[in-house]
Amino acid sequence: MSGGVLVIIPTYNESESLPGVVERVRAAVPDADVLIADDNSPDGTGRLADAMASADDHVHVLHRAGKEGLGKAYLAGFAWGLERGYDVLVEMDADGSHRPEELPRLLAQIPHSDIVLGSRWVPGGSVVNWPVSRRVLSQGGSLYTRLALGIPTRDATGGYRAYRASALREMDLASVTSNGYCFQIDLLWRGLQRGLIVREVPITFVEREAGTSKMSGRIVREALVNVARWGASRRWAQVSGRA
Ligand code: GDD
Ligand code: MN
Repeated sequence: MSGGVLVIIPTYNESESLPGVVERVRAAVPDADVLIADDNSPDGTGRLADAMASADDHVHVLHRAGKEGLGKAYLAGFAWGLERGYDVLVEMDADGSHRPEELPRLLAQIPHSDIVLGSRWVPGGSVVNWPVSRRVLSQGGSLYTRLALGIPTRDATGGYRAYRASALREMDLASVTSNGYCFQIDLLWRGLQRGLIVREVPITFVEREAGTSKMSGRIVREALVNVARWGASRRWAQVSGRA
């Protein structure tokens, strides 16, 4: 296949949610292909994905050896898609939080953008069924990122995105080491530093109904530390006259 849209869905124990989400993606954007990047989920998500792939030419599966984090799964998925010549690569969670029905609205901005962010924290965006603690963490995390990096982006950690293939090729993905949800901030920061056009589109994020979040203290700490480091090197570049 050459050209077209690839929707990458990373999975770890998402057997309850994945089939419905894939079905909704296929209905919402029938021309797009889907790549499920599964980290050998103990609950059999990988086998389920294989069954979906054998029933539908638009569905593909990337089996990974074990749980290595969201970042690694996406990097493998991007490499898979770039090798095959897709023009647009989409990130989407498997748990239904990113509504496939909103994907056409994200893709509509691609002709004018390099990176389109589905955003919970711009006017028109929202979150359904999140506890206050999660809301504070997400909004606080985006505010911290904005201040540390000096960027205008409202939702820096979101995981519902569309990238032009050309943007990903510019981002030096081989040097990305962020693993958890900090991976999202990392890619945004790489794009902004390279002067790519980033647009936020409001989305309604709906908390999962089945399965459990993989968010952890370690994921939060990785983000705090990395963003502080990137912010410090940005300010260092400013004061030393290199920016
Ligand atoms: N392959 C793989 N490996 N997939 C993973 C891993 C992993 O180690 N960890 C998480 N995932 C997948 C999940 O199966 C799901 O499809 C998606 O990544 C998001 O994981 P959740 O655990 O549902 O994330 P969340 O709802 O807590 O977090 C949401 O908010 C974050 C902060 O804004 C997501 O939208 C994240 O993308 C976002 O960064
Ligand atoms: Mn989720």
